[in-house]
Amino acid sequence: MKLTTTWLATIAGALLLSCSTPQNEEAPSLKKAYQDKFLIGTALNAGHNYGTDTLGIAVIREHFNAIVAENCMKSMHIQPTEGVFFFDEADHFVQFGEENNMYITGHTLVWHSQAPDWFFINEKGEDVSREVVIERIKNHIYTLVGRYKGRVKGWDVVNEAILDDGSWRNTKFKEIVGDDYIKLAFQFAHEADPEAELYYNDYAMAQEGKRNSVVELVKQLQAEGIRIDGIGMQGHMGMDYPDINEFEKSIDAFAALGVKVMITEMDITLLPFPAGETAEVSLTAEYQEKMNPYAAGLPAEVEAAFNKRYSDFFALFLKHSDKISRVTLWGVTDNDTWRNDWPVPGRTDYPLLFGRDYQPKPVVQQLIDLTKE
Ligand code: XIL
Repeated sequence: MKLTTTWLATIAGALLLSCSTPQNEEAPSLKKAYQDKFLIGTALNAGHNYGTDTLGIAVIREHFNAIVAENCMKSMHIQPTEGVFFFDEADHFVQFGEENNMYITGHTLVWHSQAPDWFFINEKGEDVSREVVIERIKNHIYTLVGRYKGRVKGWDVVNEAILDDGSWRNTKFKEIVGDDYIKLAFQFAHEADPEAELYYNDYAMAQEGKRNSVVELVKQLQAEGIRIDGIGMQGHMGMDYPDINEFEKSIDAFAALGVKVMITEMDITLLPFPAGETAEVSLTAEYQEKMNPYAAGLPAEVEAAFNKRYSDFFALFLKHSDKISRVTLWGVTDNDTWRNDWPVPGRTDYPLLFGRDYQPKPVVQQLIDLTKE
């Protein structure tokens, strides 16, 4: 047999691997450490979906067994004009998940943010009727969920419909359709793929008002016989919010409804945050140097505090692993995190588990060790 360059590369790769990992000792892997507890997920961006970020992809394969689409399935991206769908990136995303035997979550079907205007207006720019918006929601959901039927295993059906004080967010969906837009979205998703799991997803879920309203919403859906399988707690955190005890109360309250609880978008920012606990995407603040204190690197004591905060939360997740089905990080490395540009553009944040060099941070081993306690 002729030795091709591909073969040589394979042999060289295998040799490298056997040298870097001590014999009889497996390379540390988050998904392996947590395999009896819950899924460990991450959000995939265009570089992952199109295969250009090869180092990122290697990390995903090694450490994660669940994936969610960071942007490519949002209505603004996938149906920017009525009836014109761009499936290409989402197709790659789903294919990657299948090839790697990962649990695939679709994100997100009905969300006020990153939703194109055409959903709500006619060619004159006037609001359309309730019937028209319902028809558009139905078409969007049928097309998307239908395309990936049996392949995408769970959908964030409705995202961020409730405000922190528990009142319902006054979105265009609510304004034009009325309160039953949520119920209709779940109904359409279930019709499009009866096997798919369906979730309600939101940020600041440790806030008492939001917790109570989400519980009420889910009870209402259940009472009406609408399928809902889980509640996603986004988990965009800081060093001083949310309060871990309040977060635990929400895990308990949600699990008591008989649905799965998921941490769906975890990251812990280390930068000054101008707004209190929120993940409101529309929020922006101007760049100032004092708002970007770690551009040159992270002081050891800050990293130690960060490690402890992640460990405290993962210890909580382990304590409730009978209720939690998945913990998903919102990105792979600190290079790709949205936190670098939100709510202040152009900063250097460190909210994820892998560094800009694609290496696991020391916290990864700490999280792995927690599973052995
Ligand atoms: C964010 C993405 O990470 C960014 O790339 C994009 O510019 C804005 O949206 N809550 C959600 C996610 O449900 O979809 C958001 O993702 C972060 C907040």
